[in-house]
Amino acid sequence: MEILKKITECKSIVDDIKKRGLTIGFVPTMGFLHEGHLSLIRKAKKECDRIFISIFVNPLQFGPGEDFKNYPRDMKRDISMAGNAGADYIFYPAAKEMYGQDFKTAVEVKELGDIMCGEYRPGHFSGVATVVLKFFNIVKPDRAYFGQKDYQQLVIIKRMVCDMNLDVKITGCPTVREKDGLALSSRNKYLSAGERKSAAVLFGCLTEAKDMIKKGEKDLEKIRKTIMTKLKKNRSVRKVDYFDFRDPGTLEHIKRVNKENRNILAAIAVRIGKTRLIDNMIIKV
Ligand code: PAJ
Repeated sequence: MEILKKITECKSIVDDIKKRGLTIGFVPTMGFLHEGHLSLIRKAKKECDRIFISIFVNPLQFGPGEDFKNYPRDMKRDISMAGNAGADYIFYPAAKEMYGQDFKTAVEVKELGDIMCGEYRPGHFSGVATVVLKFFNIVKPDRAYFGQKDYQQLVIIKRMVCDMNLDVKITGCPTVREKDGLALSSRNKYLSAGERKSAAVLFGCLTEAKDMIKKGEKDLEKIRKTIMTKLKKNRSVRKVDYFDFRDPGTLEHIKRVNKENRNILAAIAVRIGKTRLIDNMIIKV
């Protein structure tokens, strides 16, 4: 496996691979890899000839007061995990390499970037879309793999790819979870032992909502209120950013189950201690 720090280096390897008629699969990450990331790499390996991952804690997608500086990093461990999962190249640029002094451009995916997590993290999704577009132009992947764990991000990347006529196929991959349902996340490292236990509440709420819908409850506003009341009573939940039902394609609010909604996205974002956690579930009706 090779580690590439320079854009020119990466581009020339990509050109070479393309000349040989091989396909490129790409998994962008911010590192501190876990089984969720590895599941994407393994999926890419099955479908593509050469696998690139990126490890880059992207300053553009962190707001003031967020965890950019403390974001967990462990390059040595990441290299061996990525290699074992099937990555051929790790693109590992410095911030200076990605954003020289004169960097002025931003990609904005309107509306989709302002709701849900965007409401609580202004500018976040513009930072994500901007870096992902840069990666796509550097790695020129045939296919790129994203986790459904960050469902809104996946929708936004798909929108950008469609709107900007990019020649890359985006694949969404299922969320990998701990035994108690907690979605794997690099940020779980911030949780104390007590907080870690409490963090199962996210999956608990999503499951409870799903069960209520499966039992025939059509009034999603009612379910939302029940879950919100439960979350507010939970002492380990410091703040609820949102618990929402949305259309999985457009991310518009859904208030009632009716014949048109075959699938409903239930999405949650809460703060446990200092850690902001998100999760979601697609509920089939
Ligand atoms: P990061 O949080 O490192 O996640 C990288 C990829 O792994 C994303 O597509 C994310 O959805 C996926 N992922 C994370 N946890 C997962 C889990 N438990 N199961 C399945 N997939 C999971 O998302 C980012 O980085 C950044 O925003 C990035 C796209 C790299 C742009 O900077």
